[in-house]
Amino acid sequence: MRTEVAIVGAGPAGLLLSHLLARAGVESVVVESRSQEYVASRIRAGILEHSSVELLTEAGLGDRLRAEGHEHRGVYLQWPHKRHHLDFVDLAGRSVWVYGQTEVQKDLVAAHSGPVLYEVSDTRLHDLTTDRPYVTFRDRDGAAVKLEASVIAGCDGSFGPSRAAVPASARQVFERTYPYSWLGILADVAPSTDELIYAWHPDGFALHSMRSETVSRLYLQVPNGTDAAAWSDAQVWDELAKRLGHGQDGWTLAPGPITDKSVLPMRSFVQTPMRYGRLFLAGDAAHIVPPTGAKGLNLAIADVALLSRALIALVKERDAGPADRYSDDALRRVWRCTHFSWWMTTMLHASGDPFDAELQLSQLRWVTTSIAGATGLAENYAGLPI
Ligand code: DHB
Repeated sequence: MRTEVAIVGAGPAGLLLSHLLARAGVESVVVESRSQEYVASRIRAGILEHSSVELLTEAGLGDRLRAEGHEHRGVYLQWPHKRHHLDFVDLAGRSVWVYGQTEVQKDLVAAHSGPVLYEVSDTRLHDLTTDRPYVTFRDRDGAAVKLEASVIAGCDGSFGPSRAAVPASARQVFERTYPYSWLGILADVAPSTDELIYAWHPDGFALHSMRSETVSRLYLQVPNGTDAAAWSDAQVWDELAKRLGHGQDGWTLAPGPITDKSVLPMRSFVQTPMRYGRLFLAGDAAHIVPPTGAKGLNLAIADVALLSRALIALVKERDAGPADRYSDDALRRVWRCTHFSWWMTTMLHASGDPFDAELQLSQLRWVTTSIAGATGLAENYAGLPI
């Protein structure tokens, strides 16, 4: 098989890239190790930055998002006995949208027209520093396939073969682990809040998010190594009620049937550069952020916006300039979001150290009472222009 762009991974980064390339008349083939059902049902974050919404809309993917998603002006930041609303529209002129990554994925699958080969195995990348790179794999029936391309896009997340195909001598890895995880639940209950609540609490962080008028998504900081099954539904709701301030100033948390319960690890990771010869990395294949602030999908969308333009210039106009600048350009936003996600995480999670706790409370008072502090958070949360 031969194509212009071989895309490894059919998550949001891979499918969006293929979609943007197709709109410019550039052919691609997408290969994916999982099944279409598996990829579409993975639960991920649900906040889209202003510029992600703009890009999806320009790409013809905004109809259901605008009809079924919810525009939020800001978020609540709270700690015991205090809840503050930060209005991103007033502070930074931009809103955010609540629309699950699962829904973005469904919209991408519905809009996508080119070939996507699901359930492939043994995917390997070859000859990346030549002008004839190729991917080999076994298709779902076990037949060996060689896919030749002009360039390869690695959109296959942190466990895929693309990142690992860059030799150790040609990459630098930056990493930070955190001494806590999140227990996340989905529940069939109307959200108890109009906009998201990020709650600092001495017993650990809690977040009240949502997916729709009838589905809530909530998270609790838990120790690393926690088994989700060890938490009963009643325990989860009790802990959420305590940390989110049930009963304070007349606010109540409505519990409901939990339909999913899982533990999310927290990690910061960046691999540079985001290019090796004819291989370009985008999304989680190049970087991971901890979930606080919901940057993962937004960063993948921003990478793909840049990469699609670079590959269109390369393939259609034989202009290598944007492709040569891709890694540096993408990494500026990656590091901004890596810092923001690390900062939100370390500001909001209990470490057990009373010195940390006082610094966190001081920081929270500053971002909720100083226009400068609040604007910095708002600009980063609602997202910088792509
Ligand atoms: C969600 C996840 C986040 O990490 C976050 O900061 C906000 C919302 C979510 O899953 O809805």
